[in-house]
Amino acid sequence: MASVILGILLILVPLPLSAKAQTHGNLTLGSSLTANDQNSSWLSPSGEFSFGFRRMGTGAHFLAIWFEKIEDKTIVWSGNGDNLAPEGSKIQLTTDGRLVLADPNGGELWSPSPTVAGIAYAAMLDMGNFVLVGQNNVNLWETFSQPTDTILPTQRLVHGTKVNARYSKMNYSAGRFNFKIGDNGNLAFYATPDPLNDGSDIYWRSNTTSSGFQLIFNQSGQVYLAAKNGTLLKLITSDTVPTSEFYQRAILEYDGVFRQYIHPKMANSSSGRLIGWSNISDPVPQNLCTSVVQNIGSGACGLNSYCTLGNNLRPRCQCPLGYTLLDSTNEMNGCIQEFAPHNCNGSRRETDQFDFYKMPNTDWRQSDYEHSAAPTEDSCREACLADCFCAVAIFNGGTCWKKKLPLSNGRMDPSEPGTALIKFRINNSTSKFTGNGNKNSTLIIIGSVLLSSSVFVNLLLLLITYLIYRSFRSRDSKLSRPIQINQATGMETFTYQELQEATDEFKEELGRGAFGKVYKGVLRSEDTNFVAVKVLATRTGESEKEFEREVSAIGRTDHKNLVQLLGYCNEGQHRLLVYEFMSNGTLADFLFGASRPNWYRRIEIACNVARGLSYLHDDCTRHIIHCDIKPQNILLDGSLTAKISDFGLAKLLMVNQTRTITGVRGTRGYLAPEWFKNMPISSKVDVYSFGILLVELICCRKNYKPKVEIEAQIVLVDWAYDCYHDGSVLKLVESDEEASSDIKRVRRFVMTTLWCIQEDSVMRPTMKKITQMLERAVEVPVPPVSSSFISSI
Ligand SMILES: *[C@@H]1O[C@H](CO)[C@@H](O)[C@H](O)[C@H]1NC(C)=O
Ligand SMILES: *[C@@H]1O[C@H](CO)[C@@H](O)[C@H](O)[C@H]1NC(C)=O
Ligand SMILES: *[C@@H]1O[C@H](CO)[C@@H](O)[C@H](O)[C@H]1NC(C)=O
Ligand SMILES: *[C@@H]1O[C@H](CO)[C@@H](O)[C@H](O)[C@H]1NC(C)=O
Ligand SMILES: *[C@@H]1O[C@H](CO)[C@@H](O)[C@H](O)[C@H]1NC(C)=O
Ligand SMILES: *[C@@H]1O[C@H](CO)[C@@H](O)[C@H](O)[C@H]1NC(C)=O
Ligand SMILES: *[C@@H]1O[C@H](CO)[C@@H](O)[C@H](O)[C@H]1NC(C)=O
Ligand SMILES: *[C@@H]1O[C@H](CO)[C@@H](O)[C@H](O)[C@H]1NC(C)=O
Ligand SMILES: *[C@@H]1O[C@H](CO)[C@@H](O)[C@H](O)[C@H]1NC(C)=O
Ligand SMILES: *[C@@H]1O[C@H](CO)[C@@H](O)[C@H](O)[C@H]1NC(C)=O
Ligand SMILES: *[C@@H]1O[C@H](CO)[C@@H](O)[C@H](O)[C@H]1NC(C)=O
Repeated sequence: MASVILGILLILVPLPLSAKAQTHGNLTLGSSLTANDQNSSWLSPSGEFSFGFRRMGTGAHFLAIWFEKIEDKTIVWSGNGDNLAPEGSKIQLTTDGRLVLADPNGGELWSPSPTVAGIAYAAMLDMGNFVLVGQNNVNLWETFSQPTDTILPTQRLVHGTKVNARYSKMNYSAGRFNFKIGDNGNLAFYATPDPLNDGSDIYWRSNTTSSGFQLIFNQSGQVYLAAKNGTLLKLITSDTVPTSEFYQRAILEYDGVFRQYIHPKMANSSSGRLIGWSNISDPVPQNLCTSVVQNIGSGACGLNSYCTLGNNLRPRCQCPLGYTLLDSTNEMNGCIQEFAPHNCNGSRRETDQFDFYKMPNTDWRQSDYEHSAAPTEDSCREACLADCFCAVAIFNGGTCWKKKLPLSNGRMDPSEPGTALIKFRINNSTSKFTGNGNKNSTLIIIGSVLLSSSVFVNLLLLLITYLIYRSFRSRDSKLSRPIQINQATGMETFTYQELQEATDEFKEELGRGAFGKVYKGVLRSEDTNFVAVKVLATRTGESEKEFEREVSAIGRTDHKNLVQLLGYCNEGQHRLLVYEFMSNGTLADFLFGASRPNWYRRIEIACNVARGLSYLHDDCTRHIIHCDIKPQNILLDGSLTAKISDFGLAKLLMVNQTRTITGVRGTRGYLAPEWFKNMPISSKVDVYSFGILLVELICCRKNYKPKVEIEAQIVLVDWAYDCYHDGSVLKLVESDEEASSDIKRVRRFVMTTLWCIQEDSVMRPTMKKITQMLERAVEVPVPPVSSSFISSI
């Protein structure tokens, strides 16, 4: 048997060698082509189309039909694009009337589908159709009814026929996009999540439901949808060209766009006309980027990339800075993050590693996991920075949409209202695009880099950016001077004289508290590196060791909602602490000042403080009870992020005296009942104080306001309690439009407050739980009636 085949092979092998341009007519049974270096093919009578093997990469071949007379031999049909044939494979019209592609060992690689038998002869026709003909000249099978991605003039597709884009420009495997006329009569373009999956999203439809039956590409070059009786229903491409002068084809390209092309039949260089394929008619859809939205799947481009219409109105898939192509040879395959992702350990040093750059008119639809009100772009940025899952935030008209990886349905288009804030790790390569300092100028440069298409301009910009980056770098390095680190505490130490100089002899007082005065200072003769220097009230009876132990405990705390201790001085009777400088002062000034801060800012602050406290209580190596939570001890940094100050000091200095020193401030103040009742002090005292702080944040007034006319409103928590039980929390925020329109949250926050200020400390939730209540991670149960309120009624 094998020798018989071998015999046939030996006879047939010479055929294809001389077969080129040989077969202009009908192919008889027994004809075959072999995949090898010779470009063997079967030609149409006019010599314009060829059927045969095309070679790809390393000796793999696939069956194709192409324009024979065009320089690049443009392919219009392919057979085994996803099952390539090795060298020596053979396509044969067998003597028993079948067409089979077999590998050199005789294994079948491809055959027409649906299965065809009883072939009498085959022919490559002049219009580009390869047909298998049975007895009585019946067409059994033709490539025109089994298209791949291209259709040609005179081709007619009936409903159910699928046209599938290829995988990439040079990879003829099935790609993600296809179109077909459904049984419902609608011509629809689909984006599939992956080529093998049929669950897909429609990105263009003809709206010819119940009447569409066939897609016709007529001789004059129009592609249109027609009813069964041939009536035109919808033109898909409208231009007509003289068939005698131009080759034509229409193709669903790998990028998902259906385009029609023409090519002059004669090379006519004297006319100056562009030789090659040029498109006519508008592409379908006109803007792919804004058309494709997938529920499952990546959208028009791959995951983590975004789609833009290029100069030539072709969609392009690009990676945001800090991301790189997964497969450098295929931009539609998506991007991966180039930097180590945000570590979720809540560490503030980790958070400081990240920054953002802006991409206007950009969005990744469907990738958001959370959205919240954000009054400003900065607050949106902050929200994303604080959240280790957040990779990108979209700021759009007061709302901040947080997106996590992988990002899908990315697009940059003038019609997109949102601005994307892309989070990136500063120390990675992308940092050269964004100097630490002047964000605005570098952002403009990023914009230009993205928009500009000229390589030269890009290189120039890169150079400029690099120089700017260098100049920031060199400024930074001037700051550094030998730093003294204490071995035991791991903290930077300062001499008293240094701090005296830093604060210009303790000139500018920032505030004073139970523990001492605070002065503004500047380190290392640099005029921007402000610090706050706290001069602790001297005390006796505490050893050096104890002091340093407490200081290092404070220094080890590392959370973005805690004011960071930078170093200290412990010299004789001088004990000073050096903190980061908080440029926006205390929450007390901010909250009770002349103008009422925005509701959403207040929400942010509440969450900031809750997170900071939760960290102090539970997460840091040494559990710390603050003991003195109040608006005066909450500080705001340059971007109005709230940070808790003075933590750890109660333990450090006041351990035995707190009760007397802090004293009672007004009715019910911020102090938990335990303080007055000589009961054990636990972290729940902070929960109580936080409850008071929270209601102050909600209402933007002090808890105790003796001059209020209505007696029931003098103590805010009591009033809030009454309002809650009367179902009238709206009264609490009556004059505050933003808060009133967010009344559900107001109610939730009031309920949270009522939980915090439970008389019995055991009833109060932990700060972790409170944080979850504020962030809506858990439902807030109905708070129990507190005995302290009953007694006050
Ligand atoms: C191919 O065969 C058919 C049927 O025998 C015949 O009508 C046709 O003219 C042939 N074509 C060529 C180009 O020989
Ligand atoms: C086959 O075709 C390619 C381009 O289509 C050409 O470069 C090559 O020389 C051809 N080989 C032969 C043997 O004709
Ligand atoms: C074409 O792409 C498919 C899907 O990724 C891949 O499996 C196949 O190996 C590719 N073919 C070639 C020739 O690169
Ligand atoms: C089909 O209808 C949809 C929804 O009404 C519309 O958005 C779309 O533009 C229509 N398509 C065409 C080709 O007219
Ligand atoms: C192609 O179709 C268009 C639209 O129906 C028609 O105007 C044109 O005459 C047709 N051309 C041919 C050659 O049938
Ligand atoms: C052809 O079919 C369409 C839609 O089904 C119908 O509206 C039209 O009247 C038909 N025309 C003729 C000539 O039958
Ligand atoms: C070349 O182009 C010129 C100007 O468009 C035209 O007059 C001439 O007929 C063309 N020649 C051929 C061979 O097509
Ligand atoms: C070619 O396609 C572009 C869009 O991709 C379109 O704007 C342009 O009009 C087309 N060219 C012609 C000649 O129609
Ligand atoms: C950025 O981070 C990625 C992944 O961690 C790494 O592969 C790349 O080399 C880094 N680039 C630089 C400049 O450090
Ligand atoms: C958090 O993770 C970062 C990066 O892995 C690391 O540098 C930092 O030390 C960690 N912080 C804590 C408190 O674990
Ligand atoms: C950037 O920081 C990460 C985490 O802190 C670290 O693993 C990485 O080595 C750093 N890369 C550079 C280039 O400094």
